[in-house]
Amino acid sequence: MQAPAHTDTNSHLGQWRGFLKDCGAVAAAGDPFQHSGSLTRVTGLVMEAVGLKLAVGSGCTVLMPNGNRVEAEVVGFHGDRLYLMPTNDVFGLTPGAKVIPWEHTANSAPVVSGKGSRRRRASDRVRHFPVGEELLGRVLDGVGRPLDGLGPLNVERDAPLVNQSFNPLDREPINQILDVGVRAINALLTVGRGQRMGLFAGSGVGKSVLLGMMARYTSADVIVVGLIGERGREVKEFIEQILGPEGMARSVVVAAPADTWPLMRLQGASYATSIAEYFRDRGKNVLLIMDSLTRYAMAQREIALAIGEPPATKGYPPSVFAKLPQLVERAGNGVKGGGSITAFYTVLTEGDDQQDPIADSARAILDGHVVLSRQLAESGHYPAIDIEASISRAMSGLISPEYFEQVRGFKQLYSRYQRSRDLISVGAYSHGSDPLLDRAIVLHPRLEEFLQQGMFERAGHADSAAKLGALLALTI
Ligand SMILES: Nc1ncnc2c1ncn2[C@@H]1O[C@H](COP(=O)(O)OP(=O)(O)OP(=O)(O)O)[C@@H](O)[C@H]1O
Ligand SMILES: [Mg+2]
Repeated sequence: MQAPAHTDTNSHLGQWRGFLKDCGAVAAAGDPFQHSGSLTRVTGLVMEAVGLKLAVGSGCTVLMPNGNRVEAEVVGFHGDRLYLMPTNDVFGLTPGAKVIPWEHTANSAPVVSGKGSRRRRASDRVRHFPVGEELLGRVLDGVGRPLDGLGPLNVERDAPLVNQSFNPLDREPINQILDVGVRAINALLTVGRGQRMGLFAGSGVGKSVLLGMMARYTSADVIVVGLIGERGREVKEFIEQILGPEGMARSVVVAAPADTWPLMRLQGASYATSIAEYFRDRGKNVLLIMDSLTRYAMAQREIALAIGEPPATKGYPPSVFAKLPQLVERAGNGVKGGGSITAFYTVLTEGDDQQDPIADSARAILDGHVVLSRQLAESGHYPAIDIEASISRAMSGLISPEYFEQVRGFKQLYSRYQRSRDLISVGAYSHGSDPLLDRAIVLHPRLEEFLQQGMFERAGHADSAAKLGALLALTI
């Protein structure tokens, strides 16, 4: 292409216009400019790249010589070195591998940057994940890829993993009872719409079964289940045996089991919350079940330690304790007149240690906790809810003072019996010395029966409250 010769006459303006148009056409037809960096180091979980200036949270793809790709996210930087964390296996990576930033596109698939990338804002590179009604009944991995073999998702919307938090004064208060279908919780630990509860327990004491019961019987429009960091075998079991076809039809399951990379587990928990937010923002009452919050904290610990953050409490770096409330605060009621996210997070109390730093931190940020006791589970008492140690902090605002008195009455009877249990069993207690204990001894089998429930039995809120009233009205 030849530029027109320089003259002063107006007639040459047309020639110049034509020339510039041709230049534009050549530029558009040519290879798009591809901005890329290269991999300089891979140690353990972290990769280091140079040659790119990306914001923390941006996504990129590392190309392997064999054509495979590793998807990664920027988790930190030092000088001009970026720290990347992969979401899938890094086996086969070589020094100098090409690192290409993503562009965000409407269909949420990460697209490596091409034409026009120089003008993109940093936020455009943050990965967006699929959300929409089409997700109901589906099982997805931590980054929104279907795991159920039911074909592509065909969603038209997507959302970033981090949403703007809204003004706490705009939130609708917790003022409506939520029926969870479990008698002990409905009657004695009443939960409200938009409440965030913890389910504290060691391993194998019935967390998954209890969550499954709530998923099946809770009066919610949509159920979002995040299975984070648990055994892979449990995912199928939870979907097929615990949730069942009835529960699955109105559920979305996000599974990032223990063998996935920590970033995937972290994203899985945020993604499940994003899906719940999507439905809440459309006026739906959502039940969000996260199994487990401890594994989420552990994933963040792995990432933070790998990029050099110093450990503080029991090996957990400070960022873990900042991440927990960020995740949990996204659940709850929406703005007035909108939907709600009622959330249950399981918290592992390893060795049944209630003083674990994650359990401690979770207790402080949640609106109540249901403690499952190994002793009860071992004696075949299911659900193994330790009524004395559990509390629902929103309960007093949800029930009448008269009903509150009944709950107090039940707890008094129950704990009076528990405290004197040894005396009673060795025959050291003589009837008549404590009227409350006398009543507790007579009613104890009924109290126990009231607290127990089969895993396929539903106990509605009204029935549970009526049964409690009838139990306490018994004369002995
Ligand atoms: N309501 C119930 N009725 C009868 N049995 C129950 C009930 N809840 C739990 N169980 C029994 O307890 C076992 C363990 O329950 P579950 O798998 O829910 O525990 P978990 O706390 O989720 O365990 P893990 O820590 O391994 O995930 C179940 O296989 C079942 O036999
Ligand atoms: Mg479980």
